[in-house]
Amino acid sequence: MSTFDLTRLLPADHFSHALRHDVQHGLTASPKWLPPKWFYDARGSELFEEITRLPEYYPTRAEREILTARAREIAAATRARTLVELGSGSSEKTRLLLDALRELGTLKAYVPVDVSESALEAAGKALTSEYPDLAVHAVVSDFTHGLGLPPGGGPRLVAFLGGTLGNLLPAERADFLSTLRGALEPGDAVLLGTDLVKDPAVLVAAYDDSAGVTAAFNKNVLNVLNRELEADFDPEMFEHVALWDAEREWIEMRLRSLRSQTVKIPALDLPVHFDEGEELRTEVSAKFRRARVAEELAAAGLRLSEWWTDEEGRFGLSLAVP
Ligand code: AVJ
Repeated sequence: MSTFDLTRLLPADHFSHALRHDVQHGLTASPKWLPPKWFYDARGSELFEEITRLPEYYPTRAEREILTARAREIAAATRARTLVELGSGSSEKTRLLLDALRELGTLKAYVPVDVSESALEAAGKALTSEYPDLAVHAVVSDFTHGLGLPPGGGPRLVAFLGGTLGNLLPAERADFLSTLRGALEPGDAVLLGTDLVKDPAVLVAAYDDSAGVTAAFNKNVLNVLNRELEADFDPEMFEHVALWDAEREWIEMRLRSLRSQTVKIPALDLPVHFDEGEELRTEVSAKFRRARVAEELAAAGLRLSEWWTDEEGRFGLSLAVP
């Protein structure tokens, strides 16, 4: 008999406070910036799903290839009773891991951790029907502000897939990995997906696809601010920019103001001026080399025990242990 329960670690008004704080802080900074978490309203999540199917956007396919080839090996190496996933398990990749752990006979529970309660409800309901003996303990939490993993259920495999680690700046990554290490018990393991450094033309194309889906995804954050903060951004007065920062080895997405304009944000009583050509940074997506992944894991007290890539070496999957 499968079960589903949900724990809220964020107060109901968390989002409105967090959004107000991020917009007030980021749009009065120089240069202006916003954290990428605000991309993912319903429309943004839809657009991201579309991005994962684009010919130029290889990370999802590449990671899925690795998991298809290595899920049994990962299950055997960890013998996890609980799969924890940072990010709700609405993806096929989750099922590759759940299937391998069920086949091995150790799977008891799944703990999806996400900021979106609706995404957790949807994923949890689907999984409890597909995995009749699974206990799903959903956790509404922003994992960059504390994980809130339920105790017990070990050995646990904590999966952080998709390359989302790359959205964190180096100092944020160090904090996150240390917090993650602090939540682990002996016998637990971490499965970490990281996109890899490669030809900048391939990288930029993955974030500036010819169909313009990523451009729509990027501009959609302005719609989020318009809806949530009664702002009056005109998305058509901003241009999507994707660039490769070779020094920091990350892709940057920005929105470039096409003219000198002042946007009003009544909920914050904040007018925001943009010069013509001024750019607002909306996301960094860091690309890694194996050595850097090993270093950052080691700095957090985690040992890289296995490293796998897809055939073409585009994406990396690490298994790390405390
Ligand atoms: C979901 C954060 C892994 O950084 O590649 C896709 C988000 N941004 N296209 C990424 C994203 C633009 C994606 N992550």
